[in-house]
Amino acid sequence: MQDLDRLRAEALAAVAAAGTLDQLEAARVAALGKKGTVSGLMKSLGGMGPDERKTAGARLNAARDDIAAALDSAKTALEAKALDERLGRERIDVTLPVRPESQGRIHPISQTIEEITAIFAQMGFVVAEGPDIEDDFHNFTALNIPPEHPARQMHDTFYFGERPAKSGDGAESTGGRHLLRTHTSPVQIRTMLRDKPPIRVIVPGRTYRCDSDMTHTPMFHQVEGLVIDETTHMGHLKGCLIEFVRAYFEVDDVPVRFRPSFFPFTEPSAEVDIGCSREGGELKIGPGAGWLEILGCGMVHPNVLRNCGIDPNRYQGFAFGMGVERVAMLKYGIPDLRTFFDSDLRWLKHYGFLPLDVPTLSGGLTR
Ligand code: DAH
Repeated sequence: MQDLDRLRAEALAAVAAAGTLDQLEAARVAALGKKGTVSGLMKSLGGMGPDERKTAGARLNAARDDIAAALDSAKTALEAKALDERLGRERIDVTLPVRPESQGRIHPISQTIEEITAIFAQMGFVVAEGPDIEDDFHNFTALNIPPEHPARQMHDTFYFGERPAKSGDGAESTGGRHLLRTHTSPVQIRTMLRDKPPIRVIVPGRTYRCDSDMTHTPMFHQVEGLVIDETTHMGHLKGCLIEFVRAYFEVDDVPVRFRPSFFPFTEPSAEVDIGCSREGGELKIGPGAGWLEILGCGMVHPNVLRNCGIDPNRYQGFAFGMGVERVAMLKYGIPDLRTFFDSDLRWLKHYGFLPLDVPTLSGGLTR
């Protein structure tokens, strides 16, 4: 025990001298570790008489507590110092230009969705979303497409397995059979069931149809639009979409034509064509002899409003839907639909966009 004061002083000196966490750990092991000096003295207590053990034990415990406290505060100080050094070392200047060697590209689908969203956001639309896995009610029935309607066949729907009908959790009560949504229109229904008019939403998302050839892929993208209030009419629909087409294609004099059409969920319905010319095999958007269909639209059918608990005598509005791949191909001259999903890095490098060129109307959609 005569050694105790010396060992205690040595241990405290080693703690004070430690300049790194590793050196501090070495000092801890040397004093308090299993084979450490203080632990060694602890073991010698066994060979002492009861009185001697009592005083020696108390002194030893006090010395051990002192050393442990010194270790603790030295550790806190060293950790703070290490953190300071690391923060100093890892500081980055966010105002520096991005290193030119960055290789990543934004996929044209993402870019196109960003562009479309930016244009409609400027007009006061907000983004809404819905699930890829839908049910019969939202994808068809509520959109005025009843079970036997021929439009259902045109949708080449991917259905999920039939669920055994059990009363209580029956599919009927929750909206019918599950399926992969064939269009973004079910989000119209979800939005109208959730929100009160006025409604002004834009809905980008994935859609699915069991179809695969030169011009169809089983998964593709659409953007849906929906406006509901008390006074919106067909003139607003036309103005809004003409404005969109000009902004998106960045061609001020692009001719736009509204051609009568049919969709179960709109009445009247129209398809929108834009003017184009084909010279020397090159397709150009703008005044010319040709027309290209780019989207479907119309005034929301009173039955659809009713299905969502909205009074069609008070409210009205318009909806539209367009294929993202299609408008991307037209704008960026991408000839083959299937290349969008090939994950070919050479293709992405050619058609992709720089990550920091975020499309805005003021800064330009594309640079
Ligand atoms: N849902 C239609 C489709 O997938 C597109 C569409 C047409 C959406 C007219 C609309 C609309 O909202 O009004 O073919």
